[in-house]
Amino acid sequence: MAVDYTTHDGVAVITLNNPPVNGLGLSTRAGIVEGIERAQNDPGIEAIVLTGAGKAFSGGADITEFNTPKATQEPTLATVIKIVEGSAKPVVAAIHSVAMGGGLELALGAHYRVAAPGAQIALPEVKLGILPGAGGTQRLPRAIGLEAALNMIVSGTPVMSEKLADSGLFDELAQGDLAEAALAFARKVGAKEGPHPKLRDRRIEHPNAAGFIQFARNSVAAVAKHFPAPHKCIDAVEAGVQNGFDKGLAFERECFIALVQTPESRALRHAFFGERAASKIPDVPSDTPVRDINQVAVIGAGTMGGGIAMNFINAGIPVTLLETRQEALDRGLATIRKNYEASVRKGKLKPEALEQRMALITPTLSYDDLKNADLIVEAVFEELDVKEQVFRRLDEVAKQGAILASNTSTLDVDRIAAFTKRPQDVVGMHFFSPANVMKLLEVVRGRETAKDVLATVMKLAKKIRKTAVVSGVCDGFIGNRMIEQYIRQALFMLEEGALPAQVDRAIEKFGFAMGPFRMSDLAGNDIGWAIRKRRYQEHPDMHYSKIADRLCETGRFGQKTGGGWYDYKAGDRTAYPSKVVDDMIVAFSKEANAGRRKISDEEIVERLVFSLVNEGAKILEEGIASKASDIDMVYLAGYGFPLYRGGPMLYADTVGLYNVERAIRRYAAQPNGDAWQLASGIAALAAQGRGFNG
Ligand code: 3HC
Ligand code: NAI
Repeated sequence: MAVDYTTHDGVAVITLNNPPVNGLGLSTRAGIVEGIERAQNDPGIEAIVLTGAGKAFSGGADITEFNTPKATQEPTLATVIKIVEGSAKPVVAAIHSVAMGGGLELALGAHYRVAAPGAQIALPEVKLGILPGAGGTQRLPRAIGLEAALNMIVSGTPVMSEKLADSGLFDELAQGDLAEAALAFARKVGAKEGPHPKLRDRRIEHPNAAGFIQFARNSVAAVAKHFPAPHKCIDAVEAGVQNGFDKGLAFERECFIALVQTPESRALRHAFFGERAASKIPDVPSDTPVRDINQVAVIGAGTMGGGIAMNFINAGIPVTLLETRQEALDRGLATIRKNYEASVRKGKLKPEALEQRMALITPTLSYDDLKNADLIVEAVFEELDVKEQVFRRLDEVAKQGAILASNTSTLDVDRIAAFTKRPQDVVGMHFFSPANVMKLLEVVRGRETAKDVLATVMKLAKKIRKTAVVSGVCDGFIGNRMIEQYIRQALFMLEEGALPAQVDRAIEKFGFAMGPFRMSDLAGNDIGWAIRKRRYQEHPDMHYSKIADRLCETGRFGQKTGGGWYDYKAGDRTAYPSKVVDDMIVAFSKEANAGRRKISDEEIVERLVFSLVNEGAKILEEGIASKASDIDMVYLAGYGFPLYRGGPMLYADTVGLYNVERAIRRYAAQPNGDAWQLASGIAALAAQGRGFNG
């Protein structure tokens, strides 16, 4: 039963009991209505308390029901709220832990609200690409005022209940036990004559509502270019201000129905569930015991090691930082300090926290200091023999049960594990640069990595606020293996007729944060060059355009050398199209006898994005990723793929795999078409009329 009903000396208590967050699915909604009716029909009941069991009052509408018949089956949430509001006996919402979305809207439909301190109050629908669809845009402004309400609705950000104590939202902030406070409050109001107050009857007072709404509109226009929902939130609030509650409510409903169908909302919901699904590994049960991680060590205090150490320090976990030379250690520590100082300057970190964080680092040159570490993350040079030295040494000094992780981006984690006598304790933790900023963490599962090691690292990832995705062992893991195909296509298109600025512009218009050439100039073109040189040896049969090598031979490594695919001015990161490079590209095409043609923006986008999709499909077939949404999370959290498109695999579903397959076959028949080996999974799913995401 999703709702419990109990009575306590004249008060009926309706308790939502639908773990994990008391989502307002159909059976919960029906249970509430049943409870309210039962209380009306019981002459011994004078008031009703509505609350939630477990860790939430309610996390809102059940998102899994969206776009299914259950979502619109009566009693809908709007009907439930109408019945609650219409109850002759006063309804008191007893709010604790979480009251979000439809959960808060339900509470707004009650006549009174008693809250515990520490409860997160929010209308986060906008983060799912929708707007509050059960009266939130109408009742919240009537409860806490236009400005505060609009801020909450448009941002979706939770506000703590104690911060809202004087806002008009709560009738009481319970100091002691919430259940007792709510019962006492209910008895008090139950003894009063009705009718009891309804938020719908309150007026929205504001000296210049139209001016404020315009201000909100301007702010949203600047930040929510690709998302329709924030705009609709404002429209709905405005409709209530201008035309009154009922018309506002009807308009809100209309907007909700339209928004829930949009690709943007689908993408945001996909990302919400994808992030949670990523932490679940098919053959690692959720109750797998985890190892305690109270002390971490990081080997190498370079670009990555310093950033990796900061993640743990920020979560309050002490870190021993090991280097080979004192100068390298000093340099690494100075960089970490500089990063924290920058945060203090920006007001993101309290000055006193800086020293507290630095005090959590123990620098060392001795492996003896690693013997207490529960987790050791290696971030030394990307050379197998250096990794070998380090892991052999770690095997000697690390305590029994310590997890040994490598941050390698290209080397074989199984080979690294084989340098130890405990391959079950070895795992890849592939952070992205800058490691203290980037959300993505690829957790690389070796052939012998123990399940409890994986479970521990996934849990730890949550603690250090990373989006962790498990990848099997392969060259480049999920993210870099796919991006290689994308870069290959970008380079072929230069050879065939495009220029860097056109390619970047087209894909940035599609929504990528940065096109491949601006990105490469930022990261350093020499990095890709080094990888390609290795590829020429390892895969002599694989066909690459040599155009990027030609660029690198001229020393144009990107921003750091003042020029790459673009020209740069000192102290200015703006990419200026380069005549020298563009001429070089045209000359290269001639030499290669490639014949230049006009390449449309549509072709650029398709070739770049579908190359990701095709490789992603192969990664799925090989079991390197266990689900399509994991691939999307890698691309959303680590590669600047536009959130409103939900990741490459969801985007492919949106386009339709039938169309993706046709496009790939078309490109495979063009010059440089040998780069396209259609993934069999695409053809198979397309034939069944299915997508990667069901
Ligand atoms: N519907 C369905 N499932 C939900 C859910 C919801 N509204 N909210 C959370 N869940 C599920 C999660 O998917 C997860 O499932 P899993 O265990 O199978 O992976 C589980 O509940 C626990 O979620 P979290 O891991 O996120 O737990 P936390 O304790 O970290 O956070 C929370 C709890 C703050 C409630 C967070 O889950 C959250 O922000 N949820 C979304 C809240 C939201 O957006 N509500 C609005 C819904 S739309 C709406 O109400 C429309 C209305 O206006 C008509
Ligand atoms: P880096 O050159 O900036 O730092 C490496 C550090 O390791 C240096 O400070 C060096 O003194 C130290 N070191 C070398 N040998 C050592 C040893 N035997 N014992 C202890 N310290 C030693 O390199 P970076 O960029 O930090 O890369 C480190 C690792 O992270 C590599 O495996 C790399 O592939 C990986 N990586 C790098 C990314 C990047 O964008 N730079 C992204 C993701 C992974």
